Amino acid sequence: MGTISSSSAVGGKNVVITGASRGIGKALAEIFAAHGYNLCLSSRNGITLYKTTEELITKYPDVTIKAKPFDLSKKEEAKALGEWCLDFMVPDIVINNAGVFEPGSVYNEPEGTLENQIATNLYSAYHLTRAVLPEMMKRRSGHIFNICSIASLHAYDNGGAYSISKFALYGFSKNLREEMKPHGIKVTSVHPGAVMTDSWGDFDNSSKRIMEASDIAKMVYAASQLSPQACVEDIVIRPQLGDL
Ligand SMILES: NC(=O)c1ccc[n+]([C@@H]2O[C@H](COP(=O)([O-])OP(=O)(O)OC[C@H]3O[C@@H](n4cnc5c(N)ncnc54)[C@H](OP(=O)(O)O)[C@@H]3O)[C@@H](O)[C@H]2O)c1
Repeated sequence: MGTISSSSAVGGKNVVITGASRGIGKALAEIFAAHGYNLCLSSRNGITLYKTTEELITKYPDVTIKAKPFDLSKKEEAKALGEWCLDFMVPDIVINNAGVFEPGSVYNEPEGTLENQIATNLYSAYHLTRAVLPEMMKRRSGHIFNICSIASLHAYDNGGAYSISKFALYGFSKNLREEMKPHGIKVTSVHPGAVMTDSWGDFDNSSKRIMEASDIAKMVYAASQLSPQACVEDIVIRPQLGDL
């Protein structure tokens, strides 16, 4: 699968967003483009990714938007995404958002459920971050957001391998935060409760019971705008009526 790009040169501030084709990732792409950031977008399926990218290019013609699909559950592809981004920019912000939600229970979920969710929800972030971090560290600035979950904070019914993978992602995020303190790079763990995206299938949200993807995007954007000496370490955001 090829790439799509609105321009060949990238100046200004740059943000890398994984899982940007839809849901929370798409809302993140939208808010950063609206504020003049150049975007480097990825997801697994090229067709949806390019459709989203075309929409954003039309809406925000003044920013540079590059997109390329990678299957981030595969180590080599996660590293390749990082290398591809570094070909044309050093990220100011990296948002590890790509993820899969497969509900289940440890005792009876299908064989391979844990491996798949660990690969997509944890290893993707680990390998992409490792690929771009050395260049960010040379600049002594930058911000990494890891989209964890309420399921990173406590166990719940039907959490199973998903919750285990999100606890692990939070562990990665917290360790990275400590490591990056002296390097001028901020790390924020984001813990959304239920957000109305494809992950919720045909859930009827006509009563506005669960959050909108733009709610998460607004909080991430706000956290990215503080002075260099301030780091929001955790964002916990739930539906007003609490978890489902
Ligand atoms: N929605 C919620 O209630 C909720 C709550 C807490 C946390 N979260 C977390 O927020 C993040 C986004 O969730 P969402 O609800 O917006 O999900 P979504 O609508 O299902 O979108 C998931 C995104 O991740 C991408 N992705 C999935 N597997 C991938 C892979 N192997 N390689 C590359 N990209 C991959 C998808 O790409 P394709 O389009 O190509 O498949 C898509 O762009 C996830 O990490 C999720 O765990 C969601």
